[in-house]
Amino acid sequence: MVRARKKPGCELMKQSNRSAAKTLEADAQAATTALNDLGWRDADARLYQDQRDYLSKHNGIRGLDLVASTEIERARDLFYRDGFVVVVDALTSQQLERLRAACDRAIHNIMALDKQRIGNRGSHRYSFGAASKTGHMMHDSAWAMLLDLPTVTPILTAIFDSANYIARGGGGDFCLPGATKYQRLHYDIHDRMAFGNETFGAFHDPSGRISLRDLPCPYVCCNFLMVDFTAINGPTRQIPGTQNSHTPLPRLADEPEWMKLSTVCPAPAGSVLIRDPRAWHGGTPNLSNEVRAIPNAEFYAPWFRQDMPLNLPRSLFEQLSAHGQSISRYIVADDDALSTGFRDDLGRIPATTKAFE
Ligand SMILES: [Fe+2]
Repeated sequence: MVRARKKPGCELMKQSNRSAAKTLEADAQAATTALNDLGWRDADARLYQDQRDYLSKHNGIRGLDLVASTEIERARDLFYRDGFVVVVDALTSQQLERLRAACDRAIHNIMALDKQRIGNRGSHRYSFGAASKTGHMMHDSAWAMLLDLPTVTPILTAIFDSANYIARGGGGDFCLPGATKYQRLHYDIHDRMAFGNETFGAFHDPSGRISLRDLPCPYVCCNFLMVDFTAINGPTRQIPGTQNSHTPLPRLADEPEWMKLSTVCPAPAGSVLIRDPRAWHGGTPNLSNEVRAIPNAEFYAPWFRQDMPLNLPRSLFEQLSAHGQSISRYIVADDDALSTGFRDDLGRIPATTKAFE
């Protein structure tokens, strides 16, 4: 059996004290509950109508650029400018349906472990990767499909100015209807740091002159929209142009209203949100009646490495194109014997590490 190596960065830090989390309660009803009926477990949806009306009126980045997959240079330039770009036709309808079905299965399996919808990123909010035993979801063929898409590969190649970038895996996240809280603004990668007895992150300048935030983009996340991003269903909020910022992240209580409303909506299902994970971003309330899932694939620049767990079974690797196999060489397992499934505690963030979220 191949053992997964530890996951780098924030995720490892969040997982390191999992034992501090309370035991979750199983939900025997989850398997027979329709996907969009899995939410609204600790709040009354009717009480949020004023906020729904407010968000419907004000939520969303004004003049949000939506790019076609054929507009490769424009996509690259918007990514460089803003730290993210939305490409609208990333998935065919068949690919979208296949990935939706895979998300539906995974979400039901996760819900079966969490009756109270405590979540692993706050109430009703979940990271697929953190919940997964491998730290990723690439053992599911629908996720592995995302490693080399004809609509996305040329844009990644343009962003890195090279086809020799590196797949590190992928998971993504989802929020159920009834995720009523904002997630604090954060970023997904940081310089090397010590936390307790462990060290997290890889990049470190002993002279103190250069940080990860001063570099060209080292890491790209491609989040695929399973439903339309709307004003009220928990669209990701992205603060444009923050990928190189050294300004301290605001706490929720200090965050200006314009940032809370700086969300990537409206945007259609089947789009991909291509993000520089150094850019400030966060989850927003899902006050709708549908699950908002954004499974992802993640890539490192050709010149960047952090510890990468083996998370792609050999048989799925062998179904990839030559390019897909080349970029996946660091994550492919020797065989198909990866230990997969979801962690009993879903990789919940303990209170002691919430400062980093
Ligand atoms: Fe994040």
